[in-house]
Amino acid sequence: MFDLTPATETDLATAYAHPQGPWLRANMVISLDGSATVEGRVGGLTSPEDQVLLHLLRSLADVTLVGAGTIRAEGYGPLGVSAEVAAARASRGQTPEPGLAIVTHSCDLDPTTSLFTEATTRPIVITHEGADPGRRAALARVADVVLAGERRVDLAEAVRALHARGLTRVLTEGGPSLLADLFDADLVDELLFVLSPQLVGAGVPLTTGAQTPRRLSLTAVHRGDDFLFLQYRRA
Ligand SMILES: NC(=O)c1ccc[n+]([C@@H]2O[C@H](COP(=O)([O-])OP(=O)(O)OC[C@H]3O[C@@H](n4cnc5c(N)ncnc54)[C@H](OP(=O)(O)O)[C@@H]3O)[C@@H](O)[C@H]2O)c1
Repeated sequence: MFDLTPATETDLATAYAHPQGPWLRANMVISLDGSATVEGRVGGLTSPEDQVLLHLLRSLADVTLVGAGTIRAEGYGPLGVSAEVAAARASRGQTPEPGLAIVTHSCDLDPTTSLFTEATTRPIVITHEGADPGRRAALARVADVVLAGERRVDLAEAVRALHARGLTRVLTEGGPSLLADLFDADLVDELLFVLSPQLVGAGVPLTTGAQTPRRLSLTAVHRGDDFLFLQYRRA
């Protein structure tokens, strides 16, 4: 088993390199009793290794895809990267900074937050044609608004729209509702599942609303302190 604690950035970048071609990778951390949150946030579940890995995964991806609920709960700001990460991305032929795409049915996102006002790369807001026109217009001033679907977001169309922008290495950080919908639409190629050594009691269960049973193949097991980092791919 590969120990992440002493691993260098280069080791990690090799272990988590994307395969060729379009790829949708999900990364989630979960407690031993199946919760994706502690007191409404993910912070209580993570570890230094998990944070290093999260930032590495963002830096390897073309775009990070996140549900609006997670944006609101976690108060995301711009994903900004260091000069070294920007240089490494450039050497892989990527834009200096990974993009951020937010999926929302309601468009209930505050366009005055730093996520939008301080971003050097305009975030992408993915919604549908029936979404509130006023909210859409407000978001269109600070983000690229992509319409995928007529009355609800069609995630397959959303992912195709990202690909059409050259954003083929997609990392999703959930949350649980978005992850469930992505699995239901059969769009997830890889699940990175971080098992946090905690029992937290009440919380948001990892899968909220997944309809389709599915089997995945375990392709790697890493550890870091008491955390397990499991890598699954399509069976
Ligand atoms: N453990 C982890 O790794 C992890 C990762 C991420 C988040 N979290 C936690 O999870 C909690 C949030 O859970 P959640 O399930 O509500 O997260 P979520 O999936 O990020 O948010 C749900 C919201 O995102 C939008 N959304 C998701 N899927 C959509 C779809 N298919 N089409 C259109 N819009 C879609 C909708 O936004 P609108 O309401 O705007 O329409 C929906 O209400 C937070 O407490 C967060 O801290 C944990």
